[in-house]
Amino acid sequence: MGILDDIRVLDLTHVWFGPFCTMMLADLGAEVIRIEPPWGAIDRVAEGALFGGVTYTFHHLNLNKKDLTLNLKSPEGVAIFKELVKISDVVVQNFSPGTMERLGLGYEVLRELNPSIIYAALSGFGQYGPYMKRGSYAMIAEAMSGHTRLTGDGVDPNGPPIEMAQAYGDLGPALFAAMSIIAAIRYRDKTGKGQMIDVSQLDCMVALNTGITCYTLSGMKPWELRNKYPATRGVGGLMRTKDGGWIRLAAFSPSSIDNLKRCLGAEEISKEDVERRVAEMTRDEAVELFVKADVPVAPVYHVDEVVKDPHLIARGMFIELEHPKAGRVKVPNFPVKFSETPGRVVTAAPLLGQHNREILMGLLGYTEEKIRELELAGVIASEPMP
Ligand SMILES: CC(C)(COP(=O)(O)OP(=O)(O)OC[C@H]1O[C@@H](n2cnc3c(N)ncnc32)[C@H](O)[C@@H]1OP(=O)(O)O)[C@@H](O)C(=O)NCCC(=O)NCCS
Repeated sequence: MGILDDIRVLDLTHVWFGPFCTMMLADLGAEVIRIEPPWGAIDRVAEGALFGGVTYTFHHLNLNKKDLTLNLKSPEGVAIFKELVKISDVVVQNFSPGTMERLGLGYEVLRELNPSIIYAALSGFGQYGPYMKRGSYAMIAEAMSGHTRLTGDGVDPNGPPIEMAQAYGDLGPALFAAMSIIAAIRYRDKTGKGQMIDVSQLDCMVALNTGITCYTLSGMKPWELRNKYPATRGVGGLMRTKDGGWIRLAAFSPSSIDNLKRCLGAEEISKEDVERRVAEMTRDEAVELFVKADVPVAPVYHVDEVVKDPHLIARGMFIELEHPKAGRVKVPNFPVKFSETPGRVVTAAPLLGQHNREILMGLLGYTEEKIRELELAGVIASEPMP
């Protein structure tokens, strides 16, 4: 049993932020119906290389979902969507603010159809405020929330800003969105009332930036505070090894600093001393030495090493799924382990319109003839199965 297996989500998301949020709900058991235009959402082919017709990020971010196409710029498409709203629990979208209202599908309209609907509007800057109309991607929210400058400061405060890898400006806010939807489901279950959730990437990235509280308390940026009080963080950092690898050492607590001194046979120790000693070892020798001494340490992995790591494999972090066009795909599993209601990744990312018939016939009782009419009218379309 999945903890959300009585929840149906209409997923109007596109590009990273939205799809990751709805995938979290799907992994916890919700029936997530991704709704795309008949010509396909922009994230299917937004990068150069395609695997079975879609990008690697589409594979990563759309597991466990069903796919329905609907042309929401046609009256029939809008009518079908409204029918689905009546029998669903959650609607999630990450269009520019105002897009749903232009389609005639704003919260006020959906609430009339289903007062218990939970409607999550995900956007760069939120549904109100001076910047609400601006388009946004992860790097926009990372830059304005201070993360890009702080990442650069970690290397050199006088050097250029450095962008975080992997679009955390999408994936972090997506987790806030999923958490908030689940909280709203709990409220709905207690009161019968739905609500609108306005999730802004920028707001969420500000919430993730502890450097802001550093500044408001001390009047200093985190690197300025660290320079003024250098001893507070123990001995740590990225350190190069003799075989060209890197380790990340984090001897921050008094006991790990003692362990570090003991394993290196030194009375006193500085970061420079440790770097010198680490430079005489291979990466794996250094990791083994510090792990044995109970000093927090990690090898700095490339992604090809991540998928081979025996600990991650032992915890079931990679699974293989069959995709109709890309063949077997290996993807990260849902990471959190529940004792009673485990998350589960069961199906690969869907083909365009793969579940048109299942949803329109199964949920709305449409006939094959009606489906053909919708296809001929361009309201729905599906990618041929191989
Ligand atoms: C990402 C973003 C900049 C992309 O902008 P965009 O490609 O212009 O997309 P928009 O959201 O503005 O609009 C989508 C369009 O597709 C249309 N569309 C979407 N689904 C549709 C469907 N099923 N049928 C028909 N049309 C559809 C919308 O109606 C809209 O068209 P319109 O502008 O003519 O009204 C914008 O969506 C955005 O800022 N989103 C919020 C922040 C975000 O999530 N960023 C991405 C993080 S990776």
